[in-house]
Amino acid sequence: MKKNFYLTTPIYYPSDNLHIGHTYCTVASDCIKRFKELEGYNVFFTTGSDEHGQKIATKASEAGMEPKEYVDKIVANIKKLWEMLDIKYDAFIRSTDPRHEKDVQDIFQKLYDKGDIYKGEYEGYYCTPCESFWTEAQLNENHTCPDCGRPTQLTKEESYFFRLSKYKDRLLDLLQNNDEFTEPAFRKNELIRNFIESDEGLEDLSVSRSSLDWGVRVPFDEKHVIYVWIDALICYLSAIGYGDDKEKFESFWPADVHLVGKEIFRFHALIWPALLMALDLPLPKKIFGHGWILFDNDKMSKSKGNVIYPEPIIKLYGVDALKYFLLREFSFGSDGSFSKEKFMQRLNSDLANDLGNLLSRTVAMAIKYNEGIIEDKGVKDGPDDDLKDLALSVKGKVEEAMEHFRFNVCLEEIWKLIRRSNKYVDETEPWILAKDESKKNRLNTVLYNLSESLRIISILINPFIANTSKEIRRQLGLEEEISWEDAKVWGLIKKAKVNKGEVIFPRLDIKKEILRLDEENAKLMEERAISKKAEEKEEKNAKAFKDEIALDDFNKLDIRLALVESVEDHPNADRLYLLNLKIGNTKRQIVSNIKDKYTKEELTGKKILVLCNLKAHKFRGIESQGMLLACEDEDGKLSIASTLADIKDGAIIS
Ligand code: MSP
Repeated sequence: MKKNFYLTTPIYYPSDNLHIGHTYCTVASDCIKRFKELEGYNVFFTTGSDEHGQKIATKASEAGMEPKEYVDKIVANIKKLWEMLDIKYDAFIRSTDPRHEKDVQDIFQKLYDKGDIYKGEYEGYYCTPCESFWTEAQLNENHTCPDCGRPTQLTKEESYFFRLSKYKDRLLDLLQNNDEFTEPAFRKNELIRNFIESDEGLEDLSVSRSSLDWGVRVPFDEKHVIYVWIDALICYLSAIGYGDDKEKFESFWPADVHLVGKEIFRFHALIWPALLMALDLPLPKKIFGHGWILFDNDKMSKSKGNVIYPEPIIKLYGVDALKYFLLREFSFGSDGSFSKEKFMQRLNSDLANDLGNLLSRTVAMAIKYNEGIIEDKGVKDGPDDDLKDLALSVKGKVEEAMEHFRFNVCLEEIWKLIRRSNKYVDETEPWILAKDESKKNRLNTVLYNLSESLRIISILINPFIANTSKEIRRQLGLEEEISWEDAKVWGLIKKAKVNKGEVIFPRLDIKKEILRLDEENAKLMEERAISKKAEEKEEKNAKAFKDEIALDDFNKLDIRLALVESVEDHPNADRLYLLNLKIGNTKRQIVSNIKDKYTKEELTGKKILVLCNLKAHKFRGIESQGMLLACEDEDGKLSIASTLADIKDGAIIS
């Protein structure tokens, strides 16, 4: 039977569209999922959105929207992004899912009943962007948040507390004596120093807010909503059926690894295990705290205008280029700096020059010199064994590096084989062999060895860049299905016929491409701004309903259908018409400023609705005895109001 493996990303705040930093962790998780599946595990991979809390409530109100309405829109974009990136998640958990909310309430109740949650009063500082509580001593000197450096708010309110302090010794023991639990190792030392052994020690944690509405209610106290971090962490349980699918839950819990960014490592390596201890549940096997992607060495932030979004990169260079860059360029445990130049350079050197070139020259030579046939004719020579030995050694190295999520090391090892294979072409010089009929069999073997090497490469790169893996196999004439074990066997191709294909990664003119990428990024920003503006406008329109009135008030309006008998220009005003109307037995004249919207011919003979008892008013010397009714949409399109059926003039609106 297959062994289960449970893997999670954090659930992202849908306070804004996700940037490349958020994408990083999801791409890494997806790679682990694919790798573990190839290794034969039954993997469950969850991601999701963290939709409650002050930060979202504020963002939604700034946009003039209800929180749920606001997050729905961003969550749709997040899902679209994961689809674009071909992320193979098994569950997308939203913290507003009723199933999840119920689990959160049940767990809160359980901990309260057990005495691990109690009521008290909280006084301290709250950082809304981080949704974190701080004591005065923990703050920076200017009272800003020690994590993000932004201002905090002094908060004093009745609150429920979780007895975090009760678990101090067990947590210390866990961190100090279980090396598997946290990775990279240096993160846990920081944690022990700053949070357990600091002057303040490990204090009980405020786990409810009475000053906030947007959250899961404390089940036994309607005044309070549950602290967003408690709510969020429980997603790891609800995503696999904590409250409603016992069998599934028990087959996947405890998680094999939670991948999290370094700033939220603390929540996962301290608060999360303490909560699980209180619930008597097994602890996750590993919390991996990855580094941040910076932009030109600075933290990405919208206000600094240095945010890189993944969509334009995917659009211009494809999913695999982005995945490859993220996994190859950075060392997962540490910070790294994104730059467009670095991205283009990697594409050119590793994907176009090394891998792309190896594939295209192998396929082209097979077609040119051998009618596309790949078949070993057994004529071995000098560098063959060297190539084969290296090829067979890579699988083990990848497996070893993947134990610690060293994606960059895996790719480095695979690329050694790619470069060795390119060198093999230079060493064996197939173009010279092709000129000599007596060397035909040797030529066959050389092409065969290159194809075998590429076959192994196609397996090894599969968890990282699956589309490219597929395309290599297609061009080599191999079946799509792969087996990880086949990366350790030489000589599996019996006979194949290659298929000519497109260049998989064209070389880029870096300067030009940077401009193109900037343009694409600007386009995306503009589109998002336009759709935001349109929504704001819609919102405004919807909100513009006037105060309620009584029927009596409406009955005061005398609106009748009038026949436009003729239309004249106003003698003293360029933009006004005089409309001569027949309303039943009476005649009236009104002045109207619709000259730029309707011609006289368009109006004459039409029946229109007119407010007849509006106090008469003179416009440039001519009295208007009423007002026609019209409406205008947000694009400035105007239409005079009329009735659906052609009925007699003089009819009264009621
Ligand atoms: N909602 C919480 C997580 C709750 S999990 C139970 C949260 N959300 S977040 O949207 O702010 O961040 C989600 C993840 O994105 C974090 O792991 C964070 O480190 C990661 N990243 C955000 N910006 C990043 C970079 N620039 N680089 C790498 N990862 C970064 O925290």
